[in-house]
Amino acid sequence: MKMLRFGLFENAQANDSGTATWRHPANERDHFESLDYWVKIARMCEDARLDFLFLADAWGWSEVDGERLPISSEEGLDLPRLDPAIVAAALVAATTRLGLVVTGSTLLEQPYSFARRMATLDHISKGRVGWNVVTTGTAETAVEAFGMPMVAHDKRYDMADDFMEVVYKLWEGCWEPDALQRDKAGRYADPAKVHRIEHEGPFFRSRGYGNTSYSPQGTPVLFQAGSSDRGRKFGGTHGECIFLGGSPSKLPDQVRAIRAEAVAAGRAADSLKIMSAFSCVVGATREEAQRKFELILESQRPEVAVASYAMFTGLDLSSYAPDTPMTELHTEMSQTQVQRFAGLTVGDVLKDWHAYGVRGKPVVGTAEDVADAMCELAERADLDGFLLTPVVQPMSTVDFVEQVLPILRERGVAAQDYQGESLRERLVGTPSPVLRDDHPGAAYRAQLAAAR
Ligand SMILES: Cc1cc2nc3c(=O)[nH]c(=O)nc-3n(C[C@H](O)[C@H](O)[C@H](O)COP(=O)(O)O)c2cc1C
Repeated sequence: MKMLRFGLFENAQANDSGTATWRHPANERDHFESLDYWVKIARMCEDARLDFLFLADAWGWSEVDGERLPISSEEGLDLPRLDPAIVAAALVAATTRLGLVVTGSTLLEQPYSFARRMATLDHISKGRVGWNVVTTGTAETAVEAFGMPMVAHDKRYDMADDFMEVVYKLWEGCWEPDALQRDKAGRYADPAKVHRIEHEGPFFRSRGYGNTSYSPQGTPVLFQAGSSDRGRKFGGTHGECIFLGGSPSKLPDQVRAIRAEAVAAGRAADSLKIMSAFSCVVGATREEAQRKFELILESQRPEVAVASYAMFTGLDLSSYAPDTPMTELHTEMSQTQVQRFAGLTVGDVLKDWHAYGVRGKPVVGTAEDVADAMCELAERADLDGFLLTPVVQPMSTVDFVEQVLPILRERGVAAQDYQGESLRERLVGTPSPVLRDDHPGAAYRAQLAAAR
């Protein structure tokens, strides 16, 4: 069995993933605005030798008929948040080896300034940064806030392709890795190694010179989680680490489909690392774990489900009869969150969403049960690792690192220590910190060489 990789999914807000567990007595993330919270979590990840801390992000909020529901504020469901890139910058100083993955939207960011922000993080962290590329499923309210017109689902991915081209040009094609000489008796940078970029795309234009020099990884490690047909094509083309959510029974097919997209894009099937989101509730006995899970469910108000489903899809499930088949619903927001419930009714989905939100069902049991489930799933679905999606923080992470991880280490499927300096070497297994040659971003480097 492969050596598994692990990341911790976090979110700089009180709740995430469509549930609202902030009232649980063990939860500390209601104080997510405090740096102390983030340093504690990051150090816990680093001490446990998790590969990375993943900072999710969203723009927008849940709205029904043009109004934000009071429950969204009462439960801290969507707003407020912090900027994940700034949290990551603070955590660079609190850690030395941990990867830090920042979510950034190709719909709402500007590629030129975004490229600089990510390169800055990559420089100051010495190559420990990743970018979770999102097209923003919660687009309807977000574009209003930005004063932009709405962009339909598949077109957002066309926009993302164009965005990638600009940032590849800036990261890979502008400053050569050895452009800086810092020779006090000579010159600071070699002008022959600093190239002008030109980009005239369907959505973005950029001309001139990148604001930052070539960073340790050049391009940050690219993470992606789109699961619609268009999202998978995008992920197969650009993603180096793909996250899958949803049902374990569908994972093997999803993994095969993503690897096939990568091959169609001219990449090696195993150059993508595929990780599944994974939740667990651990107890000394199965009964204790079940009771622990029940207390988590009891800490949440059932009304949260309607508001939170609306945030992901723009659909108000309370306005449909409970027996309406989900196949009758359509959204231009996250299609995955409608398609994954095919065969169920609106009433079924409201119950499911209350318990799990966008997360898969947690494995509830002893640490041995959880380790068994992870090994079985990884083998059956050909996974490279797991993105741990906690239900109550920091309790979920403490339980995993103290109880489950030692078992996985004993079984020889989790590394004892970090290997490789940069996040890319460690996670993707590249021989150097930069993109593999078969990655589309590397072509911008090759063009540069050809032009010389
Ligand atoms: C594990 C995981 C983490 C995700 N994190 C984010 C996130 O931080 N921000 C975001 O806007 N979307 C996030 N998503 C959603 C995906 O980027 C994507 O929009 C979603 O899977 C729907 O895909 P589709 O648009 O191709 O249908 C995440 C999805 C998964 C499975």
